[in-house]
Amino acid sequence: MRRSHFEALQPVCPLCRAPLALSSIERGDADDVLEGIVVCAGRDCAREYPIIDGIPIFVGAIRTWLAANPLQVLLRDDLSAPIESLLGDVLGPGSAYDTLRQHTGIYADDHYGSGGGAALRVLARGLDAAHELAGPALDAGCATGRTTFALAERTNALTVGIDLNFAMLRIASQALRAGRVRYARRRVGVVYERREDDVTLPARERVDFWCCDAAALPFGGATFGVAASLNLVDCTPSPAEVLRELGRVMRGGGTALVATPYDWSASATPVEGWLGGHSQRGPHGGAAEPILRALLAEEFAIDREVASVPWRVRLHDRSAVEYDVHLVVARRKG
Ligand SMILES: C[S@@+](CC[C@H](N)C(=O)[O-])C[C@H]1O[C@@H](n2cnc3c(N)ncnc32)[C@H](O)[C@@H]1O
Ligand SMILES: [Zn+2]
Repeated sequence: MRRSHFEALQPVCPLCRAPLALSSIERGDADDVLEGIVVCAGRDCAREYPIIDGIPIFVGAIRTWLAANPLQVLLRDDLSAPIESLLGDVLGPGSAYDTLRQHTGIYADDHYGSGGGAALRVLARGLDAAHELAGPALDAGCATGRTTFALAERTNALTVGIDLNFAMLRIASQALRAGRVRYARRRVGVVYERREDDVTLPARERVDFWCCDAAALPFGGATFGVAASLNLVDCTPSPAEVLRELGRVMRGGGTALVATPYDWSASATPVEGWLGGHSQRGPHGGAAEPILRALLAEEFAIDREVASVPWRVRLHDRSAVEYDVHLVVARRKG
């Protein structure tokens, strides 16, 4: 965690909104804490939040989150490719290990691999349509983080990428701190190729990555001038809460980019939380777009919409999903 970001963003406890303070540094230095502890100054709360691999974990429900995802944090990433491959065979398809390896590989490959860049293109469409790009900037649901660097480059401002998947953020953190990414790219079945690449990234000095829930952000109100939420809302339990939270942390006049393919699945979002995609006999005939517009209208004025932006997600050598993403550029009221 970069001290510059901690001081500029003045994070608050995601549970009680009291200020947070750095209480110990176990690895790293005062400018970049690689391992340490941040505590909540609220007397009745006093929660402790760990920093691991340079990434602070500001998750209020940290017990539930870590219990559900121990592998994301505890998985070692120093194994040779053959041993990693053997473990993958033994644990097999559908195991937590296989899901994590596949999931991180998909985004690392799009963000840093030679054939990718789909998320970067969605971001660029949004930034090109935006009127105002004054920081600080937030990339909500940044995954492996390449769009966060692009956001920092375009806004020329302090930028933070947040995600709830620690394994993805570890790749982002390695890109930031070592200028290198290592991930497994799925070829077929449980066959993966190890990719290790040096990456030259723009605006590295302005970027940091934090592990947070987009529905309970560790920021005070009116912190950000720009916020991007690319392909995030349909992956969260409560899209409406995520949109409200974006509104809360944004400054009046600030620009929000919201892109989503509305690819609903009950495993990520209970059906009641879907924006459209159900209630076909209702006023919008089940359409998602009017509901996104209505939710945004609580805090934002919509500046511009692009009905369909291509976003291709590669799954393996012979499979990819082609999405048409709905992109909205909105301005925070006030
Ligand atoms: C479909 S991916 C898109 C990633 C990236 N923005 C892109 O377009 O390449 C959705 C991301 O949202 C993250 N995510 C899901 N729920 C989240 C939440 N409640 N808070 C923060 N991130 C979340 C996932 O871990 C994943 O990295
Ligand atoms: Zn607290």
